[in-house]
Amino acid sequence: MKKNIFKNKKVLITGHTGFKGSWLSIWMHSLGANVLGISKNIPTYPSHYQLTGLDNIIKSKQLDLKDKKKLKKIIEDFRPDFIFHLAAQALVKNSYINPINTWESNLNGTIHLLESIKYIKKKTVVILITSDKVYKNLEIKRGYSENDLLGGIDPYGASKSATEIAIKSYIKSYFTNRRNKVFIAVARAGNVIGGGDWSENRLVPDCMKAWLRNKEVLIRNSNATRPWQHVLEVLSGYISLAHKLNFNHKLHGQAFNFGPKNKNYKVIEILKKIKKIWPLVKWKNYSEKKFFENKLLNLNSKKSFIILKWRSKLSINDTIKMTVDWYKNYSINKKNKKLILKQSLNQINFYTNLK
Ligand SMILES: NC(=O)c1ccc[n+]([C@@H]2O[C@H](COP(=O)([O-])OP(=O)(O)OC[C@H]3O[C@@H](n4cnc5c(N)ncnc54)[C@H](O)[C@@H]3O)[C@@H](O)[C@H]2O)c1
Repeated sequence: MKKNIFKNKKVLITGHTGFKGSWLSIWMHSLGANVLGISKNIPTYPSHYQLTGLDNIIKSKQLDLKDKKKLKKIIEDFRPDFIFHLAAQALVKNSYINPINTWESNLNGTIHLLESIKYIKKKTVVILITSDKVYKNLEIKRGYSENDLLGGIDPYGASKSATEIAIKSYIKSYFTNRRNKVFIAVARAGNVIGGGDWSENRLVPDCMKAWLRNKEVLIRNSNATRPWQHVLEVLSGYISLAHKLNFNHKLHGQAFNFGPKNKNYKVIEILKKIKKIWPLVKWKNYSEKKFFENKLLNLNSKKSFIILKWRSKLSINDTIKMTVDWYKNYSINKKNKKLILKQSLNQINFYTNLK
């Protein structure tokens, strides 16, 4: 890790009760930051947030970002040095079921955050998290670069693309004058895996939930290929971006991709890799009515490599091992928050020390 610039700094994390947000909160807390989380709820039961006792470790406000008055007040009172904005309705399938909530949380939620930081007078570094699904799918094989066209199709992807247009507009309209002290960048990444994810309709959580009850998991499409990137890889990208933007204000207004280095693997290949570490796991294939989902988009992360010196560090086997180890430890220590937190911290330390 580069010089620790987060020690004793105030770090606001929206979506801190979610999968990525809980890992980021633990990471920031371990770096000595004073963390305040804002989320509307705890999206899953169980959750990495509660299992690690994070609810007793960092400050937390329960708030829907729709409530812009309260959001503004919280930010004015806390006076953050860094903001990581992760709060969102993050599931494609749910976005079809409840598009209005998705648009309100993702687009309006981000606009309300931007409104709340418009008049901040102290230096604040803001990282806004969107997705690889913001890109217009041009049916091309090369990885998508930051300057490619935006244009998500499904309600989730479209809401994130629209969010990026709103962010650009806000930056140009309100955050460019000479006295501006708020520096904003956008981070785009794809699906991630790792311990502590309990979301619906994601392969790893679905498997873990079934296997922890000694049941077989139903697999929709075992031949589908996906990138399999560990959550810590992407979070290290967000942290590197905040670090660099803190010193280099020329990055203000820019977007960065954080894609995996591993090739895409089939679901079945991942299941077989998991079985090598956890021999008792079992699965069964079934078919389901499909909803439209953008074809997979590969991300080109050259810009992040050149400017941030960020790169993916974990092999596919390490990615799987860290993920499975986390759930195995959970299955043994279900009631012991300290030991579950220790496992998450150990993984962060392991990752940080990788060359
Ligand atoms: N997990 C992935 O694979 C993935 C991939 C690409 C992008 N992302 C993005 O990363 C971010 C975090 O994803 P995640 O998987 O941790 O999500 P998650 O579903 O685990 O957590 C979502 C968080 O946002 C909060 N939230 C949702 N709507 C809110 C609202 N209206 N007001 C306040 N809080 C609200 C929830 O309470 C929760 O804390 C999201 O912006 C998501 O779009 C995630």
